[in-house]
Amino acid sequence: MQQAVALTSQAASVRGVAVTCSARGTKQTARPRVCRVRATAAPEAEAETGTFAADFTKEIVEEEKKYILQTYARPDIVFTHGEGARMYDAFGKEYLDFAAGIAVNALGHGDQRWLEAVTEQAAVLSHVSNLFHTVPQVKLAKRLVESSFADRVFYANTGTEANEAAIKFARKYAKVKAGLDPYNADTALDCATDIVSFTGSFHGRTMGSLALTYKDQYRTPFQPVMPGNVMVPYMDLEAASAVIKKGRTAAVFVEPIQGEGGINPASKLFLMGLRKLCDEADALLVFDEVQVGLGRTGKLWGHQHHGVEPDMMTLAKPLAGGLPIGAVLLKEHVAAVMAPGDHGSTFAGNPLVCHAACAVFDIINTPEFLAGVERKGELLRSGLREALAGNPHVKEVRGLGLICGIQLDRMAGPLVTAARDRGVIVITAGKGDIVRLVPPLIVSEEEIATCCKVLGEVAKEVLA
Ligand SMILES: Cc1ncc(COP(=O)(O)O)c(C=O)c1O
Repeated sequence: MQQAVALTSQAASVRGVAVTCSARGTKQTARPRVCRVRATAAPEAEAETGTFAADFTKEIVEEEKKYILQTYARPDIVFTHGEGARMYDAFGKEYLDFAAGIAVNALGHGDQRWLEAVTEQAAVLSHVSNLFHTVPQVKLAKRLVESSFADRVFYANTGTEANEAAIKFARKYAKVKAGLDPYNADTALDCATDIVSFTGSFHGRTMGSLALTYKDQYRTPFQPVMPGNVMVPYMDLEAASAVIKKGRTAAVFVEPIQGEGGINPASKLFLMGLRKLCDEADALLVFDEVQVGLGRTGKLWGHQHHGVEPDMMTLAKPLAGGLPIGAVLLKEHVAAVMAPGDHGSTFAGNPLVCHAACAVFDIINTPEFLAGVERKGELLRSGLREALAGNPHVKEVRGLGLICGIQLDRMAGPLVTAARDRGVIVITAGKGDIVRLVPPLIVSEEEIATCCKVLGEVAKEVLA
């Protein structure tokens, strides 16, 4: 089986099926070479390709069930390659990828500039550890600081790790702010320790981030999680003001636009109110932009829609275009409390990931690119509204830039499955009653139109 996994195309050619390689290019981006298993003229060959792909898929799915811890419910599809906003399964079936690896593949699949950055850096230095200086992590940090409210960057490997780091920074900040010796265990609780978060939030799966995450289903089996979390209704400033208190609250974590929670944008008033409450309580305001940071909303940072700045911001998903990365951006007053040895990571900020991230950042951080995201987001929402108009089960189409949600009055699973069968990948959010669309930011207007058309047709069949 291993051979088949590694050598799809080779295995296909061994069985007498044509294997084609394409080097399709567009004016904007030269695409990398991709290998596809494709049947040529003869129907027998086509049938054989189908048989091979079916056997191949079955074997991978069976072995996944046998060897991999079953924490993910996946359909019986094996993706073998992607190009731009499209992905292909073992049968060669094409899908429009409006999930983008859950808002990760901002440049789509196989972007030539990203590929060049990865190969260029991999050829010279991929990993060193944080025991020594390396160039790409400094270059990326400089870009992140110069383009944001922040003065410093801390690298992590994932979104949850970035949030975990921000929790630690907030805890130490509270101790220093209270005039305590942070290394004296006897005074550990003589300062603010609460972390406030909101209903509908998603901050990650590790014990600290999980404590801040809303869904009981994620938390309950693993109790006790980190103590000291206070959960408040999202967008309820009055409730927030009742719990954000001096000497009690270390930090407030909020997503400027909730992704997993259901594509719920915070209002300017809410974020301004939280800023004020945090300032009055000496608490830190943390924006979790793991999903919406770096261009997804049409602005570089999601909170720029509101003109409210945090003390810290966490980033991850799109930053290295598909390689694992996380980051905390901090203001100097927070950064100043951290000392060498206080926190660290073996892999975080390695040259390979940071060099790739510099390439991604430089592509996204231009007025033209960001304006394109905004324009395409509007096109997507208006296209969806038109395609779904009159369907009594569609309550709302909402979002900002290229994060978009279709609110249904029922579970979205059947619609998501039917769309996938028709070659459009979308995912769910909220209580499972929202269709979430987070396509690559390079998605074309034509691909958006196709997605809207397919979802409109599928909704007519499934949401009758
Ligand atoms: C807003 C937000 N924060 C944190 C996370 C956790 O990120 P990761 O899965 O990389 O740990 C996610 C993931 O979906 C997210 O959307």
